[in-house]
Amino acid sequence: MPMRWRDAMDRALYGPDGFFVAGAGPAAHFRTSVHASPVFTAALARLLIEVDAALGHPARLDVVDVGAGRGELLAALLQAVGAAGEPPSSGRGPGEPAGPSPSTPPLAARVRPIAVEKAPRPDRLPRRIGWVGEIPTGIVGLLVATEWLDNVPLDVAVRTAGGWRYLLVDPTTGMESLGPPVDSADHDWLHRWWPAPPAEADGTGPEPVTGARAEIGTSRDHAWAQAVRHVDRGLALAVDYGHLTAERPLGGSLTGYRDGRQVPPVPDGSCDVTAHVAIDSVAAAGQRVARCAYTLVRQREALRALGTGGTRPPLGLATRDPAGYVRALAAASTAAELTDPAGFGGHWWLRQPVGVGPAPFVARWRA
Ligand SMILES: C[S@@+](CC[C@H](N)C(=O)[O-])C[C@H]1O[C@@H](n2cnc3c(N)ncnc32)[C@H](O)[C@@H]1O
Repeated sequence: MPMRWRDAMDRALYGPDGFFVAGAGPAAHFRTSVHASPVFTAALARLLIEVDAALGHPARLDVVDVGAGRGELLAALLQAVGAAGEPPSSGRGPGEPAGPSPSTPPLAARVRPIAVEKAPRPDRLPRRIGWVGEIPTGIVGLLVATEWLDNVPLDVAVRTAGGWRYLLVDPTTGMESLGPPVDSADHDWLHRWWPAPPAEADGTGPEPVTGARAEIGTSRDHAWAQAVRHVDRGLALAVDYGHLTAERPLGGSLTGYRDGRQVPPVPDGSCDVTAHVAIDSVAAAGQRVARCAYTLVRQREALRALGTGGTRPPLGLATRDPAGYVRALAAASTAAELTDPAGFGGHWWLRQPVGVGPAPFVARWRA
């Protein structure tokens, strides 16, 4: 029975036998930056240290991972923070927050990791990591969502001569059919965020292209705004693939993944169903809640600003410290994967500060 894409996706991914709920977990089917390399976690650990400093080293520093998969990021982050220790107290610029007082417990002792996931808690997760189904309120610290928003179910529309209409999908076959006209909220979103490209028609002037598809971002805007609303003070960070208004894909980006392969997006629970995120619209929705400027940069730039260069170690190291050289080379090659503009490096990093000045979180290159 044909239904709107948003309902079909919701059931296929998060229903009782849903792909993300009942299956082996995202890592069994595709790679994200989290799975790709500890270099990614190390960069997030550095960001967490910046958040801690901006908040004045609170007694409890929340790290909330929304759409946590099987908890891989939090488990790795805990390790990285334990290994990284406290931020250096020297070398801060004027106006930057002071270092922790000597009596402040170390970051590793103050951090409170919470995974927000629809899937059940994995057996072997460190006990220290909380596991909940809804985003907790009153977060003071870092809320992070890596490749979450692209899996928030959304509707798909098609442009007809009479305006935008929903596309319906048969969940068993993936066959699409034309549905009713979009409602007024979705119409307004499409008008603002996914303008139909004009086409010359019969010499009468620019007319919108008929047959163009659009993925309606209202559900993702709402999801992100809700997430930001749960942060009292700190930083909300979304990392995802997406596009801006000027470059929306004409045919949309809806697709499927299974066993490491891209497959047709049949919403029958057997594969991931995902679509790129209209990230500028999501950013605007978060800003309306936080009332604080956001920054939006590519992962490549964000990671470099956090000290992940991807440059090869000097050859001289190979003779001085062969094992260190091999380690540095491996780190450089995974950093290169994370910053590759045609891959993970092209992902967007949306940083939404809440209740703190934006300055500490503005991505900037480090010499
Ligand atoms: C593509 S996976 C990303 C996993 C992990 N963050 C990573 O980057 O490897 C998306 C995850 O988000 C979870 N998810 C989606 N919507 C959610 C929601 N509203 N609440 C909790 N988890 C959600 C899914 O169950 C799935 O595990």
